[in-house]
Amino acid sequence: MSKTTLFILPVLFLVCLSCTKQMNDPIETKIDALISKMTLKEKIGQMNQLTGMGLHLDMRNQIKAANVGSILNETNPKIINELQKIAVTQTRLGIPLVFARDVIHGFKTIFPIPLGQSCSWNPEIVEDAARIAAVEATSTGIRWTFAPMIDITRDPRWGRIAESCGEDPYLTSVMGVAMVKGFQSNKLSNATSMAACTKHFVGYGATEAGKDYNATIIPETQMRDIFLPSFKAAVDAGVATTMCAFNDVNGVPASGNVYLNRTLLRTEWKFDGVMVSDWNSIAQMKVQGVCASMEDAAKLASDAAVDMDMMGMAYIDSLETCVKSGRISEKQIDESVRNVLRLKFRLGLFDNPYVKIEPKLPFYSETAIAKAKQIAIESAVLLKNNNQILPISEKIKSVAVIGPMSDAPADQLGTWVMDGEPAHSITPLMAIRKEYGSKLKIFAEQGLTYSRDINPAGIAKAMTIARKADVILYFAGEEAILSGEAHCRADISLPGAQSELLNQLRKLGKPIVTIFMAGRPLTIEKELDQSDAVIYAFHGGTMAGSALADLIFGKAVPSGKLTVTFPRMVGQIPVYYSHRNSGRPGHNIVLMNDIKIGAEQTSLGNTSYHLDAGDKPLFPFGFGMSYTTFSYSPVKLSKNKISDNEIITAECTITNTGKVTGMEVAQLYICDPIATLAQPVRELKGFQKIVLNPGQSKTVKFNLNIKQLGFWHQDNTYKAEPGEFRVWISADSQTGGYKSFNFTD
Ligand code: GLC
Repeated sequence: MSKTTLFILPVLFLVCLSCTKQMNDPIETKIDALISKMTLKEKIGQMNQLTGMGLHLDMRNQIKAANVGSILNETNPKIINELQKIAVTQTRLGIPLVFARDVIHGFKTIFPIPLGQSCSWNPEIVEDAARIAAVEATSTGIRWTFAPMIDITRDPRWGRIAESCGEDPYLTSVMGVAMVKGFQSNKLSNATSMAACTKHFVGYGATEAGKDYNATIIPETQMRDIFLPSFKAAVDAGVATTMCAFNDVNGVPASGNVYLNRTLLRTEWKFDGVMVSDWNSIAQMKVQGVCASMEDAAKLASDAAVDMDMMGMAYIDSLETCVKSGRISEKQIDESVRNVLRLKFRLGLFDNPYVKIEPKLPFYSETAIAKAKQIAIESAVLLKNNNQILPISEKIKSVAVIGPMSDAPADQLGTWVMDGEPAHSITPLMAIRKEYGSKLKIFAEQGLTYSRDINPAGIAKAMTIARKADVILYFAGEEAILSGEAHCRADISLPGAQSELLNQLRKLGKPIVTIFMAGRPLTIEKELDQSDAVIYAFHGGTMAGSALADLIFGKAVPSGKLTVTFPRMVGQIPVYYSHRNSGRPGHNIVLMNDIKIGAEQTSLGNTSYHLDAGDKPLFPFGFGMSYTTFSYSPVKLSKNKISDNEIITAECTITNTGKVTGMEVAQLYICDPIATLAQPVRELKGFQKIVLNPGQSKTVKFNLNIKQLGFWHQDNTYKAEPGEFRVWISADSQTGGYKSFNFTD
């Protein structure tokens, strides 16, 4: 057989395979048929997304003119059906609209912010919450949410850390997939399913200085090891859409990044969903300095496989010119339109374009409320509990409920709450009064009426009631507006006079339990020292107060573990667990106040640390306490060496050594101590959340294969290198001992 035939045969096979796939997929056939009828103008109309909220007074005319493919921020089912009717019955081809909304951590029933949810280390409950959000949102006609946000970030100055699942690629991948499954269910065309949207593709969390919308510098190997895995996991799980980010990546805006969006996402990963721009992010490429005109921006974004322009008017105003002038082929437009039509077919919108108007919408169901409380319980992290002051003993006869977050129904919901209603919030004060008012004397005075409040008069009032109580419950933190998009802080300490109020309370010499409700890690070392116990609840959503009351009084046991490192001070940022080792890791540490006067230049340890902070964070990734204690046996490995296709099992027996039943998150970490590129000192590769009764033991087992041990090399290949690997199964990213095994090529 000639060489030519040898070459042609496999190519022919692949071409036939893809045609067969297309021929077998009825949706592709329908898309072909529809596209063949569409004019260029109608095609470009499908690539245009406009906002509702009354911002487009001539929205109806725009739809009638087939200038709109999708609408975001309309949530009135009657209006949605009215607009849909125009699209379906008053345009030439009757292509339905898809309605979208930011349903980030709940629609009406609000769950903890994603950063809080991730601290539950419970993907099942995270999926349940997303499913409930989808049922509520789709009942109004929303069929596309701009979530999950799965950007990796190590910078709590960045307000959007609140929307993230923290600093770790593996944990974020697991949580992101759980949310995608919850939103989309197992069938996108179900009436209660909505298309998920992984965002923001990609690298947004590396925004310089933790300032939003800023530039990023991300080496290719780190892009692939850190920022891309969560998006790849979601693509493999069938996410229907993705959104490009506002930031640039090494000078190339994400909205115009041909390599990332087309070569990697489309060709390498075979993603066949829709990529929507972020709000006006296409047009913003002019400001970023890579496009001289709207037409240039439209061309670059289309070349970068951005299928839909969210509120940028770049596509609707300039794409036709680009095609007519030959700058873009109509074939390239067709690729985007196919993706948009595919989404709409997969959602079943051509068969069922309208939302069923129910007399009573399924908001705040018993199931939703119970789930919101449970996930808020599991998202809260116990950081300190001196003398087991928590749970509050029945001997305590009175408590003082103080602080700006003790009764803040709107702020406890957190950022990105577009449809949640504070009137449904159960605040800590409400819950404590309702659940314990008959057993306890409850004194209540916020002192400061909002987190930035500096009014000393409030402090005096709070002190008055604190003097009367046995125990002080101090609810501190951030208003919701201080985190989320565009809400970044260069100083992440407690706002307002909250720290001063705690100073005053401390002088009373009474037990103080401080509960933080915030959208990010705050620098709380001083407040930690002044508190006998600390619970970090982030912004816990509708049922935050009820969850915290159960935790404080012992109806529930804390099980949350941090998914983001807590810095001692903002100057330590970025500080995260999976760092690479310095050639001189921090040791021989002499802190600034301990340096002798007139010390010689070389008298200090010459190792890697800050004179005023040392080399450790306040709390590490994976840390969280319980009301019980757990012991971990040494790790056992099933083998001491493996080759390419083998699996090694790591196991550890965990025992509840305390007096109450608790949940523990056993974490599997690995390290490749010697490699051609320096590797992190530890990397999370698995976790299991287990329930243990007092005295009970369970053995957790993890299988590891070589695919999990590799990393991306500078030649853009992913592989594990032969040699030693270290394995931990531990309670957090800092403790525990490891066992080694060898990988032999
Ligand atoms: C915003 C956000 C994005 C959101 C979109 C629609 O600017 O960056 O996350 O989904 O606009 O609200």
